[in-house]
Amino acid sequence: MKTLICGDLLHCIDNPFYTDEAVEFIEDGALLVEDGLIIDKGKRETLLSKAGKDWHIEHHPNCTLTPGFVDTHIHFPQVDVVASWGTQLLDWLETYTFPAEAQFKDQAHAAEMAEFFLGQLLANGTTTALVFGSSHPNSVNALFEAAAAKHMRLIAGKVMMDRNAPESVLDTAESSYNDSKALIERWHGHDRLSYAVTPRFAPTSTDEQLAMAGKLMREHPDVYFQTHISENVDEIAWVKSLFPNCENYLDVYKQHGLLGPRSVFAHGIHLEDRELDDLKSHQCAISHCPCSNNFIGSGLFPLERIIKKGVKVSMGTDVGGGDSYSILRNLNESYKLQQLLNHNVSPSQLLYLATLGGAQSLNLQNNIGNFQVGKEADISVLDHNATTLIKRRVCGAATWQERWFAMSILGDDRIIKGVYLLGQWIGTSNSDPRID
Ligand code: GUN
Ligand code: ZN
Repeated sequence: MKTLICGDLLHCIDNPFYTDEAVEFIEDGALLVEDGLIIDKGKRETLLSKAGKDWHIEHHPNCTLTPGFVDTHIHFPQVDVVASWGTQLLDWLETYTFPAEAQFKDQAHAAEMAEFFLGQLLANGTTTALVFGSSHPNSVNALFEAAAAKHMRLIAGKVMMDRNAPESVLDTAESSYNDSKALIERWHGHDRLSYAVTPRFAPTSTDEQLAMAGKLMREHPDVYFQTHISENVDEIAWVKSLFPNCENYLDVYKQHGLLGPRSVFAHGIHLEDRELDDLKSHQCAISHCPCSNNFIGSGLFPLERIIKKGVKVSMGTDVGGGDSYSILRNLNESYKLQQLLNHNVSPSQLLYLATLGGAQSLNLQNNIGNFQVGKEADISVLDHNATTLIKRRVCGAATWQERWFAMSILGDDRIIKGVYLLGQWIGTSNSDPRID
C-alpha cells in the first residue's frame, strides 16, 4: 500500500552554512511513501493526478511538514533531573544526576521511564536521538525494547564510568567492556537501533577504561562513540590535572583511538583551535546544547568559529542539564545566544541544525534528514494554528523564511501535531490527519 502524506513541505537539500539555495519549500506538497520510504515528492495536485486505487491519502491542511528532528545529545536516566535548581556542572552531577541515575539499576523503573522518555521525544517532533543510558545495562535494554516496538531510529549506549562517582553508578573497566559488548551483540543493527560506546567524560574514566572503549571501537568499527567535552571551565581544569600527559582535553580521547566519523562530542564550548582541527580531520561531530549551556551556566557556544573550521554541528537537548526536550526551544536559545555573539543565524541554518545537520553528524544522511526520494519517511508535522500567538504570527507571514523562523522561535511541543515514523502516523487521537 502507498500513502500520500500532504501538507507544506520544508526541508534542507544541502548545508546552508556553506551554500545558498540549500532549502526546498513546496507549498501544498505531498510525499508518497511505500514500505516506510519516500518514493516520490512534489505538489499535492501533481501527485494526486497519478493516484492509484490503493493509495491512502493523509492530509494535514495548515501544517508544515519537516523531516523529523534529530537530537544528537540527551540522557535517558535524567528524566527526573530536569529543572533542578542552582548549581553548575560538577556539583549538579553529584547533587542531582548520580542519585537519579542510580535508580536505573531497577528494570521496572527503567522500563516505565523508557515509555515516558520516548513519548516526550516524539511529542516534541524528535524522531531520531543519540542517547546516554545509565551505567546499568538494564537501562539500555529497556530503552531499546521500547524504541524497537515503535520502529524508532535510536542510538544509545550504557555509560562507562569507573571512578569519581558514587559506588551505585560505577562499573569497572572490565565489566564496562563486557556489558557494552553484550549490548552491541544484542542490539546493534536490530530494527532501527544502533549502539554507541559511551564513556561519560574523561574525569569519570580511568585510562584503563578508555582503552577498553578503544578496544570496543576497533572490534566493532560500525558502532558509534559519544561522550562530553569542554563544557565547563572547572571540568577542563580537572581533566588537565587527571591527565597531565595529554596535550589538551580532546587528546585524552584521541590517545585511545576514539575519534572517527561516528564520534559525537557534546558541548565543546571551550575548545582550542588544535582540538577543532583534530575534530575536523577525524570527521567528528559536535552536539550543540544551548538550553543546557544556559541552564547550568556552562558558556556561550562559538558556533561561527566551529562552522568556519568545518566541524559538523547539530542540536542536542541534553536533558536533564537541558530544560527542554524541544529541539525548537533549543533553536530559539541558540539563535539568541548567537545574537549576543554578533552571529546572525539564518532560518535555513536553524532548519539544518535541527534536521539534516543531525543526520550528517550521525552519518545517517543516506537514511534520514530530508525528503529526498529513498529516505525513510520520518516526518514532523507542525501546526500553523497551534496557539493563538503562533496562529497570528505564522499565518500572517509573507514568505516561508519568515514563517519557519516564527515557528522555530515560538514553537515547542504545542506546535507538534504529531510525527510519522517510517510513514506511520504517531499522534494524539485528536490530531489525526484528514483522510481525503
Ligand atoms: N558531563 C558529564 N556528565 C554529564 C551529564 O550528565 N550532563 C552534562 N550536561 N554534562 C556532563
Ligand atoms: Zn550531556
